[in-house]
Amino acid sequence: MKYIIAPSIVASDHLRLKEEIAACKAASADWLHVDVMDGHYVSNITMGPFLVETYKRATDMPLDVHLMIEKPERYLEAFAQSGASRLTVHVETCPHLHRTLQQIRDLGVKPGVTLNPGTPAALLKEILPMVDLVLVMTVNPGFGAQAFLPEMLTKITEIRQMLDTIGSPAWLEVDGGVSEKTLPALIKAGATAFVAGNAVFKHPNGIDAGVKVLKNVMHAA
Ligand code: DX5
Ligand code: ZN
Repeated sequence: MKYIIAPSIVASDHLRLKEEIAACKAASADWLHVDVMDGHYVSNITMGPFLVETYKRATDMPLDVHLMIEKPERYLEAFAQSGASRLTVHVETCPHLHRTLQQIRDLGVKPGVTLNPGTPAALLKEILPMVDLVLVMTVNPGFGAQAFLPEMLTKITEIRQMLDTIGSPAWLEVDGGVSEKTLPALIKAGATAFVAGNAVFKHPNGIDAGVKVLKNVMHAA
């Protein structure tokens, strides 16, 4: 089974951005996870298309862009032009989810969909065949370094079954509190892509060690 590690760049030291992104690549991380927060949908503000474009110039790793913003349809084109490889929208922010996912694909970008901890998997049923990725939030969105919510393991298993039932190759990604400790249960529940902020960028032995520890757990799974 191919598993993906996506370091969450919002946890990096932005004064050493180029070195830290290069260190992720050198440690064979797979994607760069980019958390876009607007201060409205979540009570934190991070970045816009300008910074995504900057990351794009720093690496050839695919940019896995997580949109925690209200009315994301307003910014799809700008993020597509800034170099996003995937755009993941929250079900809770898209009253016209089917159209929004189609718009992302029409821009030549891979569409992803994500659910807050309080949102049931059932909301995915109609659009599941359209997506390249489903992201299950394992913390309430808005901040890194929060405690992992173990009650999300049931929802991950449920979505794994939904994807297998329709024969979908979509990635099942998890985000929030992913670490050496929480990874075995997440893999057992059926997740295949893992966002890691603190576990990588704040590892006491550095980024390389942070990625390697997670990769070792995956290989042992
Ligand atoms: C939270 C973000 C996450 C977060 C992950 O809203 O979507 O990507 O930065 O950070 P850790 O791995 O430290 O929980
Ligand atoms: Zn995220």
